[in-house]
Amino acid sequence: MLLPAGFAAFVALSTAAPSLRRRSIDPTLEKRQSDAEPAYEAHVIEQPIDHFPQSKRYEPHLSTTFKQRYFFDSSYYNPGGPVFLYIGGETSGESRFSNLQTGIIQILMEATNGLGVILENRYYGESYPFNASTTDELRFLTTEQTIADNAYFRQHATFLGVNATLNGSETPWIMYGGSLAGAQTAFTLKTYNSLFAGGIGSSATTYATLEYPQWYDPIIKYGPSDCISRIVDIVDKIDQIIESGDEGALGALKDLFGLGALKNIGDFAQTISYPIGGPMFYPTNTWQELNWAPGRGSEDFYQFCSNVTNPSPPASVADIDTALSKYTNGELWAGLGGYVSYVKNTLLPLCESGDYGSTNEGCFGLSQNASYWSDTANSGDRSYLYTTCTEMGAFIGAPKHGPSLISRVLHAPYTQQWCKWAFIPGAHNRIPSSPNLQETNKYGGYNVQAPKLALIDGGVDVWVDLCYHSHISGKTRISSDLHPSYLIAGGGHHWDSTGIQNITAEPDYIREAHLWEIRTVKRWIEEWGGKAAY
Ligand SMILES: *[C@@H]1O[C@H](CO)[C@@H](O)[C@H](O)[C@H]1NC(C)=O
Ligand SMILES: *[C@@H]1O[C@H](CO)[C@@H](O)[C@H](O)[C@H]1NC(C)=O
Ligand SMILES: *[C@@H]1O[C@H](CO)[C@@H](O)[C@H](O)[C@H]1NC(C)=O
Ligand SMILES: *[C@@H]1O[C@H](CO)[C@@H](O)[C@H](O)[C@H]1NC(C)=O
Ligand SMILES: *[C@@H]1O[C@H](CO)[C@@H](O)[C@H](O)[C@H]1NC(C)=O
Ligand SMILES: *[C@@H]1O[C@H](CO)[C@@H](O)[C@H](O)[C@H]1NC(C)=O
Repeated sequence: MLLPAGFAAFVALSTAAPSLRRRSIDPTLEKRQSDAEPAYEAHVIEQPIDHFPQSKRYEPHLSTTFKQRYFFDSSYYNPGGPVFLYIGGETSGESRFSNLQTGIIQILMEATNGLGVILENRYYGESYPFNASTTDELRFLTTEQTIADNAYFRQHATFLGVNATLNGSETPWIMYGGSLAGAQTAFTLKTYNSLFAGGIGSSATTYATLEYPQWYDPIIKYGPSDCISRIVDIVDKIDQIIESGDEGALGALKDLFGLGALKNIGDFAQTISYPIGGPMFYPTNTWQELNWAPGRGSEDFYQFCSNVTNPSPPASVADIDTALSKYTNGELWAGLGGYVSYVKNTLLPLCESGDYGSTNEGCFGLSQNASYWSDTANSGDRSYLYTTCTEMGAFIGAPKHGPSLISRVLHAPYTQQWCKWAFIPGAHNRIPSSPNLQETNKYGGYNVQAPKLALIDGGVDVWVDLCYHSHISGKTRISSDLHPSYLIAGGGHHWDSTGIQNITAEPDYIREAHLWEIRTVKRWIEEWGGKAAY
């Protein structure tokens, strides 16, 4: 679903390469990371690497532990209060700090005198079981091991400086996760229900499917219509040229964008898709990175569109709209000038070397370099790709039918090919030829339910079709006390996780969602009432 922070490994290849961010289910992480101060001390728990010593899947077994980091905020805590377990998901614990400081966990701690703790996911941040991430070393990165960490943590966590034992059954624990971590929250509640007073999965991508072209659907539907229609038309014309096999036209097209150096048509298509959101990674921000709270997301997407629809472009820009007309029966390419100038002014300068891809070491020409992908250094991007390749899928590509915002040469196999380059078979582990989606869908897919599991989604989120409110399910979701659910109409990817330390000042549609979450959580705490035992 998406990748977070700087696509660091990508950058490492060419020192001057742009900081490409892999598409992850989680947006704005980069921003949050840079905002994050070392506000909370890192603590570690000795977590078993292998929670399933009886399972054939993990042979040969290991009985050792790894140091899993966690960070907590006890400033709102009063004795008897609940613990909010924030699931770190596909990034470092530090990049989640804002959730404790101003976001949903701050809101819930304040409302209930609770303590908030961020648990860093195994194989992310500094919570690596091994010093490298060969295919063998990654074999304990599975959904079932990850959610077992959550259960173990709940039963064993200690909080230095807090004069209370919080890991016993008398303390209500409530989970929260957004995106991939939201799915893990749902799966944890489903599997270890009795350990938790409740859990909120926000934009929880609980459904696994091999291909996910639906990522673009909300942008096509809800993006500024004039911008969308221009992009769709330009992409149709580009694909017409690609299909025609006219090398001269193709060369002219690439040169127009300043990308004549890119030999592989996929690299070219990927590069010009970045402003909209390229499959798997992109260096600037897109629809997914918009946010309701001022300064918390990025307006890049609207800047891009405003270039494409500029009503009074300079002649040098306007002229580009006709530069390729001779290849398309004289038709105007409305908005192409704005598109080209945005790519040239905003994207290309990110590649400081100016070597856009004449060799595979160029900034935008890496996607076909197998040895780049096979680098086994620990990195969140690599861990995320591993999960994508083994259990989650959701390879993004152009839709098979209908309008598209990206060239159709970017079909799902284009991204899936990286799996085999990245994870060469080891002695104890080899990745499946296609992800084993059942490892995700066995928990219920978009119909996942568990008592005390609340699911909240955003109506214009690019990931919504992998969530409880997915259109694919064809169902209208009606909330109940047992299975609380909430759809934020007009909401993006886990927008409820953002807060501004004053609910009253929030826009109505966010405030109401936060109040619903507070009510839901308070009810769970009351129901737990100290009587629960496990
Ligand atoms: C990982 O590296 C550290 C520091 O170099 C070393 O102490 C440790 O033994 C290594 N662990 C493994 C499993 O190789
Ligand atoms: C629970 O927390 C207490 C106090 O922080 C600690 O002494 C104890 O070892 C923990 N229990 C388990 C099972 O780890
Ligand atoms: C810790 O809590 C216990 C029981 O609530 C109390 O008796 C004790 O004085 C507290 N200790 C400190 C150092 O606050
Ligand atoms: C085009 O995008 C750039 C970069 O984001 C922005 O500064 C500029 O205002 C945009 N131009 C138009 C005409 O919207
Ligand atoms: C592919 O990437 C590796 C680094 O991962 C680099 O050393 C190598 O030069 C690249 N290959 C080509 C042909 O550019
Ligand atoms: C919260 O926002 C409301 C509405 O904007 C405002 O009246 C109030 O003063 C704010 N409260 C605080 C503590 O800033």
